[in-house]
Amino acid sequence: MKIKYINQLANYVDNTVTLKGWVYNYRSSGSLVFIEMRDGTGITQCVVAKDDVSEKAWEAATSLKQESSLEITGTVKADERSVGGHEIHVSDVNVIQIAEDYPITPKEHGVEFLMNNRHLWLRSQRQWAAMRVRNEIIFAIHTFFQDRNFVQMDSPIFTGNAAEGSTTLFETEFFEEPAYLAQTGQLYGEAMAMAHGLIYTFGPTFRAEKSKTRRHLSEFWMIEPEMAFYDLEMNMNLAEDMIRFIVKTVLVKRKAELDILERDTSKLEALVENPFIRMTYTEAVDILTSEETAKMLDDMLDSRKQEEKELKQESEEIKKEHGSAKKWRKKQIEARQSEISSRIDQIEEDYRNIPQWKKSAQSFEWGNDFGGSDETVLTMQYEVPVMVTHWPAEIKAFYMKRDESGKHALGVDVLAPEGYGEIIGGSQREDNLELMHERIEEEGLDKEVFEWYLDLRRYGTVPHAGFGLGLERTVAWLCGLSHVRETIPFPRMMGRLKP
Ligand code: 4AD
Ligand code: MG
Repeated sequence: MKIKYINQLANYVDNTVTLKGWVYNYRSSGSLVFIEMRDGTGITQCVVAKDDVSEKAWEAATSLKQESSLEITGTVKADERSVGGHEIHVSDVNVIQIAEDYPITPKEHGVEFLMNNRHLWLRSQRQWAAMRVRNEIIFAIHTFFQDRNFVQMDSPIFTGNAAEGSTTLFETEFFEEPAYLAQTGQLYGEAMAMAHGLIYTFGPTFRAEKSKTRRHLSEFWMIEPEMAFYDLEMNMNLAEDMIRFIVKTVLVKRKAELDILERDTSKLEALVENPFIRMTYTEAVDILTSEETAKMLDDMLDSRKQEEKELKQESEEIKKEHGSAKKWRKKQIEARQSEISSRIDQIEEDYRNIPQWKKSAQSFEWGNDFGGSDETVLTMQYEVPVMVTHWPAEIKAFYMKRDESGKHALGVDVLAPEGYGEIIGGSQREDNLELMHERIEEEGLDKEVFEWYLDLRRYGTVPHAGFGLGLERTVAWLCGLSHVRETIPFPRMMGRLKP
C-alpha cells in the first residue's frame, strides 16, 4: 500500500486515510483526545472520540505521549482553523512505540540544551521549517546553474595547498603526507572551467577560524561557480541574478515554512524587484565614516529609548489589569508580557551594540577589512544586498586580479541586508603567468604545490572569474535566523563536535 502523507491531505477530503508518524502534541479532555500528529511532511490535528473507536483504540489513544510513534486511520475533514487546514476524525489508532519521557517539551529550553539534543531538536517545527527552506535553496541553486548550461563538478576535500590564508587550515594526514581539508574548491574550479567553460562546485568546505560568532561554522557548504571569459562585472551580474532567483523561488515555494519561522517577507520581496547596490570599497569606507551614518546610529538609539519607554508603560498597565482579568484575558496579557520582555531584551542588546557600531564605523581606516558590525552598519542603509568591489589588494587573496593602479583587487563581496553581512566572496582571477608568479612569491606560498595552478596560465590562459556563496549564511538570512547553527542539520563549530 502506498503511504499517505499529511501534505497531500487536500487530495483526500472526506476519504479515509491511514497516516504514519509521531505525536507532536497531545491533549485530552474527558472523552476526547487531540493528537497533533507529524509525519515529516507536516502536522495535522487528529481527534479521537471515545464513542467512535474500539476499546483497544481508545486505550491506545489515551496511552500516548509526546513523540510516540503511531499509525492513525480516520476521515479527512477540511477545517480552516486547524493546522494545515485539515482535521482527521479518527476511527483507529495503532501504537508503534510509546516513547520514553521526551526531553524537549513545549516549555522553553536554553540553546546549549537544544544543541546537545540536536538529533531530536530537528523534529521541532521551526527547525523542520528551516531545513525545508535549506532544501529549497539547494534545489534553486542547481536549477539556476543547470538552466544556464553550467556543469556541476566536484573538487577534492583533501588538498595539498591553502587558498584562503594559512591561518584557517584544518591539518590532517594523508598516508603520512601532511594534508589540509579544503577551504574552498576554487583553484580546482578554475581548472575545471578551462575544460568545460562554465562550472560550479557544491561541496563542504572547512575553516579553522577560532571565532565564535553567529556567522561562522568550521564546516560549511559552499557553491562556487567559475566562468571562463567572465570579467568582474559579468561575475557580479551572475551573482545578483542567482540571489534574486533563490529568493524568488523560496518566497513562492516555501511560504508556509517562512510563516512558521515568522519571517517578515516584505524585506525579501523588496529585493526581487530592485537592483542591488554596487559600490567600491573606498565609497563604502566614506559612507561608514560619514556624519550621516553617525547621525543615523544616534537616531536609532533614540528611537530604541522611546520604544522601551512605551513598552514599559504598557507592561505596567496590563500588569495592573491582570489581577482582576477574566481567564482568556489573563492568557492574552501573559502572552503580551512575554513579547514585551523579549523585545526589551533585544533593545538592551542594541544599547550595548549601537555605540560600538558607531565607534567602529567612525574610526574605520582605509586598508582594513570590514568587521561584522561595519557590514551591518553599511547594509542597514539599504533594502537590497550591497556589492562591494575594488578592495585594497593587501587584504584579499593572492589569486585576485588587480586593477590598472595595482592597488585594488578586482574582488566583490556581496553583503546581505538586515545585518546578515557577507554571503558571497568572489573575484576576477589573475590570468597572467608572471603576475601570478609574483603573487605566490609575495605571499610566501610553496611554489611547488602551485605548479599545476600555474599551468592554467601557461596553456591557453583566458580572463575568468567566479565566486563562492555560503549556503548556511544564505539560509540564515532567508529564514531570518539569528545564528548559523540552526541552518545545517548537525553544525560543526568551535566547541561543537557532538552530536
Ligand atoms: O569569501 P570566501 O572566503 O571566498 C572564497 O573562499 C573564494 N575562494 C570563493 C570563490 O571565489 N570561489 O568565502 C565565500 C563565502 C563567504 O562569503 C561566506 O558566505 C561563506 O563562504 N563562508 C562561511 N560561512 C560559514 N562559516 C564560515 N566560517 C565561512 N567562511 C566563509
Ligand atoms: Mg570573504
